[in-house]
Amino acid sequence: MKFGYFDDQNREYVITRPDTPLPWINYLGCQEYFGIISNTAGGYSFYRDARLRRLTRYRYNNAPWDCGGRYIYLRDDESGSFWSPSWQPTRHAAEDYSCRHGMGYTTIGSKFAGIEAYTRYFVPLDENLEIWQLTVSNRRATPARISVFASVEFCLWDAQDDATNFQRNYNIGEVEVNEGVLYHKTEYRERRNHFAFFACSEPTAGFDTARDAFLGPYRGWDNPAAVASGQLSNSIAHGWAPIGAHQVNLVLAAGETRQIIFVLGYQENPVDRKFDPPDSQTINKKTAEPVIAKYLGAKEADAAFGRLHEHWDKLLGIFQVDTPDLHTNRMVNIWNAYQCMATFNMSRSASSFESGIGRGLGFRDSNQDLLGFVHMVPARARERILDLASTQLDTGGAYHQYQPLTKRGNNDIGSGFNDDPHWLILGVAAYLKETGDWSILNELVPYDNKPGTEEPLYAHMGRSFGYTLERLGPHGLPLIGRADWNDCLNLNCFSDTPGNSFQTTTNRDGMVAESVFIAGLFVRASRELAAIACHQGHPDDAKRFLAAAEKMEQTVKEHGWDGEWFLRAYDSFGEKIGSKERDEGKIFIESNGFCVLAGIGLDDGRAAKALASVRERLATKHGLVVHQPAYTRYYLHLGEISSYPPGYKENAGVFCHVNPWVMIAETRLGHGDEAHDYYLRINPSAREEISEVHRCEPYVYAQMIAGKDAPTFGEAKNSWLTGTAAWNYYAITQWILGVRPTYGGLEIAPVIPAGWQGFTATRIFRGVKYKIAIERAGPGNNVALTVNGSPIEGNIVRPPTDGSNEISISAVLS
Ligand code: BGC
Ligand code: NOJ
Repeated sequence: MKFGYFDDQNREYVITRPDTPLPWINYLGCQEYFGIISNTAGGYSFYRDARLRRLTRYRYNNAPWDCGGRYIYLRDDESGSFWSPSWQPTRHAAEDYSCRHGMGYTTIGSKFAGIEAYTRYFVPLDENLEIWQLTVSNRRATPARISVFASVEFCLWDAQDDATNFQRNYNIGEVEVNEGVLYHKTEYRERRNHFAFFACSEPTAGFDTARDAFLGPYRGWDNPAAVASGQLSNSIAHGWAPIGAHQVNLVLAAGETRQIIFVLGYQENPVDRKFDPPDSQTINKKTAEPVIAKYLGAKEADAAFGRLHEHWDKLLGIFQVDTPDLHTNRMVNIWNAYQCMATFNMSRSASSFESGIGRGLGFRDSNQDLLGFVHMVPARARERILDLASTQLDTGGAYHQYQPLTKRGNNDIGSGFNDDPHWLILGVAAYLKETGDWSILNELVPYDNKPGTEEPLYAHMGRSFGYTLERLGPHGLPLIGRADWNDCLNLNCFSDTPGNSFQTTTNRDGMVAESVFIAGLFVRASRELAAIACHQGHPDDAKRFLAAAEKMEQTVKEHGWDGEWFLRAYDSFGEKIGSKERDEGKIFIESNGFCVLAGIGLDDGRAAKALASVRERLATKHGLVVHQPAYTRYYLHLGEISSYPPGYKENAGVFCHVNPWVMIAETRLGHGDEAHDYYLRINPSAREEISEVHRCEPYVYAQMIAGKDAPTFGEAKNSWLTGTAAWNYYAITQWILGVRPTYGGLEIAPVIPAGWQGFTATRIFRGVKYKIAIERAGPGNNVALTVNGSPIEGNIVRPPTDGSNEISISAVLS
């Protein structure tokens, strides 16, 4: 069952009924001001940091879900009835409901009692504000008197405090109202120099800033007393809950259409010019007034929307494909790339599943996210890499996350994840391959943000490498530490106390438990590092990196192989995990995917065996599960993984992030059919028809799909902010379609399904447009390349030396 459809031409997903199984959201903003918006106008906004600069309030665990939003109400002043064109919060049975989620904007509306109303929400480029463009049309044969109410509930900036510290919060709320603009200025009197504003393009017939006055006692957003009465009361909030509500009264002739613009925004003032007059407590509004005035004009708003459109055209235009498969095209050309930009902007901080409070930018996560967006925003990827590296510790280890506003690392969700350091190497490698900007390696970067500790980025990568070699376990495999990629395989935790955090509790010295997954990661990262060292003219380093990789590969073959597949780990008693010797958790996806991806066992049949075992034991119609059999009870020595009921999350759920490791591994064996088959099983567009089962948005990946052991097999959770976005994008574009940036040029190495006759693509790479046509002449993956009409040796196309900015490539597969 579907709840809408893809409009590929306009790059939109159109939702045609409001009661989607879960809120289906979109993101507004692409620089510093952001919001999430659901298909019924729920969501919130913030400036840079979802926790520390939250503009509007949201209630994650409320019922109905998705409460708090950008709510507009219309009231028929003849009958007194009122409704929300976005369905929520009043939930009237509206006609022609639609929500169009597009690239950086969302338009929601419907028709009720002959009145049609649609609102387009977006954040203009280079501004810290959002525009709500409401279009109201009277489709009746008679004139209509309609009052329009637009509302937001302000958050008292720090979203954590806002939800917990009520003895303070109920006293501090403050607002100002000036020339029809509502200003939220809680804590501005003291240490803040920023405020929010909410403005309206039309003369208003009233406002409210006190929630109690607007809603009335014991009433909710579905039934505000002031809207029911038809008149706002010009209330001023003193403490309690400040809101912003505007009222505009319209008289619409039959067939008449009117547009009203609301602008919600964030403004910072210079500290010495906070007040006007200077010795008063009144906000200096001179900084905000021009920008407010500008975007209340329909022409400016439309022009800003046009610029946003061009922005996305440009970003998505960097890679476009035309393959025989609709779902591949749609995800690569539009939604997967778009989701990668959301993970760039948000990391794991704000979605329907991430509250914006607890998690900042993860070290591991953000480095992997680079794989998906580096081609679209290379300059910002560079900055991100340097920010991440600046939080690295001088041991080579890493804080697990940092807060974007401060850019400082913290241990809030634990530390000592022994895989973390290597993702930096892979992130930098991806940047170098895309841009050829080797200068980044010479950038001086501190450790733990401490001045005086700066070393070139290249040295940081060396420390990542060294971190593992200094932490090898009894079999010579890397010690797992707190955990590796799988945060929930906690082999040193041993927690028997309810409420203990699996991320911060450790009861073992950590000198025994080892990870075969980290071994695979190490092999892969060290070989990348060796290539980088060679290019930098450090052959001795390169030799050292290669020798260590070689040795680790041998160690994996000796101690990390179970006969039919790669082991997952050794626990803190030195017992095997992911082995036929176990009753539960016999085989895991991570080590098998990553070891093969890293090239281990390609030469001796192990890789092929491992992937056959994965297919036999882990593949389901909804994707590859993390392990089998699922853990059926809590194991003290395994930790959080066994805390989940079988089939959910890391306990044998389909973790969509790791599925692409197996897709890539399959391409390394030349198996295009298998790789693309796995790709389609979790491709959200390909799952659109089963939206009632999948339940999350059909246009973006979710972190997890419930595995075959779960009663809700096939149900997705945690959409949007997941490493799944980058890894799937990377797998399909670089390994299956095989259009792959390398240090020396663009490699063309497709491993596509046997049934595909070919495909075409355009790729802008280091400023040059490559027009690529792939044609199948035989069943294999051998590539014969012609560049601008002339055959070339090998399959790497070097950047042009003659200054041309367009190249035609044709490739024949046989
Ligand atoms: C989740 C993990 C997550 C970790 C850190 C755990 O509860 O299951 O997926 O990575 O918390 O936030
Ligand atoms: C989500 C975390 O953000 C990511 O870092 C981790 O690898 C996965 N969970 C798997 O545990």
